[in-house]
Amino acid sequence: MSASPSAIESVLVENRVFPPPAEFAQAARISGMPAYQALCAEAEADYEGFWARLAREHLDWNKPFSQTLDSSNAPFFQWFADGELNASANCLDRHMGTPVEHKTAIIFEADDGAVTRVSYRELLERVARFANALKAQGVQKGDRVLIYMPMTIEGVVAMQACARIGATHSVVFGGFSAKAVQERIIDAGAVVVITANYQLRGGKELPLKAIVDDALASGECPSVRQVLVYERTATACAMQPGRDKTFAEVLAGQPAECAPVAVGAEHPLFILYTSGSTGKPKGVQHSTGGYLLWAKLTMDWTFDLRPDDVFWCTADIGWITGHTYVAYGPLAAGATQVVFEGVPTFPNAGRFWQMIERHRCSIFYTAPTAIRSLIKAAEADPAVHPDRSDLSSLRLLGSVGEPINPEAWMWYHRHVGGERCPIVDTFWQTETGGHVITPLPGATPLVPGSCTLPLPGITAAIVDELGNDIADGTGGILVIKRPWPSMIRNIWNDPARFKKSYFPEELKGYYLAGDGAVRSSDRSYFRITGRIDDVLNVSGHRMGTMEIESALVAKTDLVAEAAVVGRPDDVTGEAICAFVVLKRGRPTGDEAKQIAKELRDWVAKEIGPIAKPKEIRFGDNLPKTRSGKIMRRLLRALAKGEAITQDTSTLENPAILEQLSEAN
Ligand code: WT7
Repeated sequence: MSASPSAIESVLVENRVFPPPAEFAQAARISGMPAYQALCAEAEADYEGFWARLAREHLDWNKPFSQTLDSSNAPFFQWFADGELNASANCLDRHMGTPVEHKTAIIFEADDGAVTRVSYRELLERVARFANALKAQGVQKGDRVLIYMPMTIEGVVAMQACARIGATHSVVFGGFSAKAVQERIIDAGAVVVITANYQLRGGKELPLKAIVDDALASGECPSVRQVLVYERTATACAMQPGRDKTFAEVLAGQPAECAPVAVGAEHPLFILYTSGSTGKPKGVQHSTGGYLLWAKLTMDWTFDLRPDDVFWCTADIGWITGHTYVAYGPLAAGATQVVFEGVPTFPNAGRFWQMIERHRCSIFYTAPTAIRSLIKAAEADPAVHPDRSDLSSLRLLGSVGEPINPEAWMWYHRHVGGERCPIVDTFWQTETGGHVITPLPGATPLVPGSCTLPLPGITAAIVDELGNDIADGTGGILVIKRPWPSMIRNIWNDPARFKKSYFPEELKGYYLAGDGAVRSSDRSYFRITGRIDDVLNVSGHRMGTMEIESALVAKTDLVAEAAVVGRPDDVTGEAICAFVVLKRGRPTGDEAKQIAKELRDWVAKEIGPIAKPKEIRFGDNLPKTRSGKIMRRLLRALAKGEAITQDTSTLENPAILEQLSEAN
């Protein structure tokens, strides 16, 4: 739905196949398709037994579970429910006394290039100290803690410390606005906010604490007792006595030991807000046991992690990718990982390639939008081309967050992977907790632009509106038929919305992903065709069209009506295009430009800079049916610059199309 016609065509004719390199396959954990098929067969023969075996093998349990899956209150499925464990102990304590204890856990490279390393032992001590500090502030098991932090070791420490004492964290990406922070604090009922004075991005110091102050200023967040501030830079920020404390203050005198609190496997490890089809973000609630199993398991399966790997996932901890493949998975697996604070284009667009060389990264995991923007940069300036860096340490590449077009795939394969590294195109979502459809690098022959096949045990399928299977080669709705351990457990505070969004009755109880997909006729490989709901994917960031519309119409002095659609974009995948009717006349020329800027800044303030429309068009009205329904299908065509060939006879006001067809 969101892919451009040219991208669809090039995928349809895609017939290049890249089998796993023999050397890679030979050494891989899951080596060759028969090994993959054997795992699939094991899951099919004894679904619960399969997951029970893996949960016992991959996690340390304080109390073993006796029941694997409890479907008695479907779709509120429970996994390993009477088992007890601690996520932080499974990421840190379990490595003590093993060779991993003194291994580097995190290589942190700051925005300015400064590098800090911490070993697993040191990380455990820092987490324990911070966990003690949280306890000293009165944070208890089950409390919610909001984390609004830059990409730093401290961000990971804060998450792990919450997990250690059984507090449920909710991380909010540092690009979200005060209003977004406030909404999330209120919905989650957070008792403590953990933030930093500033964050560094591309040499600029951007405030975080001041935004938290704004979020709390109205007095609408009575649940918040304390704000803990990491002093990332030397620049002072306002501190409210009694409420605000620096990390240094709360950490002073805290011992480096803190017994991890064993929690039930279903205890909510975190809530992460994501966009849906309404104006209100959904608090996706994840479990402890099933989620952590997935984080660990997919490090082994998808990334085929080896003890000497240097793993680098470029995602921010504010997104699910940064949860599963920065804060939890690599640590549970005992990996050495790179954590990066800055932006890919600072001090130049060769930063990623230089960092891979500097840290001898062997696994690199990033988003197609980053690859596409770096292709552009490398084509414009040979000095930042990956060919200029020694990338020989790489053995595996990954892609996540949006469909990767075959052209970008080929460039990534050739210029970054040196034609020797498999690329795992991992399809998943905030709700799935981790990878669900992805190649296994030692087994699956790769086809550019396809996320290939479901992981063993994942019953992904393509169905019609009634849940009936659709034949290969025909597009349909992506579902997962059976529950799996790392699936979303609930929408925080909104079980009715959870049921309605993910388990609509007409779909036979299947999990509805919200994406369209098609399986290839030859290999039954999956290809994701884009969201089927009102969710956009801009630079791998998920945005609800309704969320942006609500933000626009909240500017009540100016805006009468707004409709937001996505249009294909070469770099960001999709771009946000807003059609706006003002309360006064339709502006043109410079005035239109100036009002468009005002509205963009307004949206940045309401939601965050990532939600700013790339284009705003003004009209006297919007195309509506006689019953008053906005015809988004037409707006999408207009945004793309397509001629309207569709039937417009049901339109109340067909003349409006011409007015809206021009960019201002
Ligand atoms: C949506 C989920 C996956 C973690 C980061 C994004 C799209 C994700 C792929 C892929 C095609 C993909 C889907 C999905 N998506 N990965 N490999 N190929 N599309 O998580 O913010 O929850 O977004 O991202 O549309 O539904 P998210």
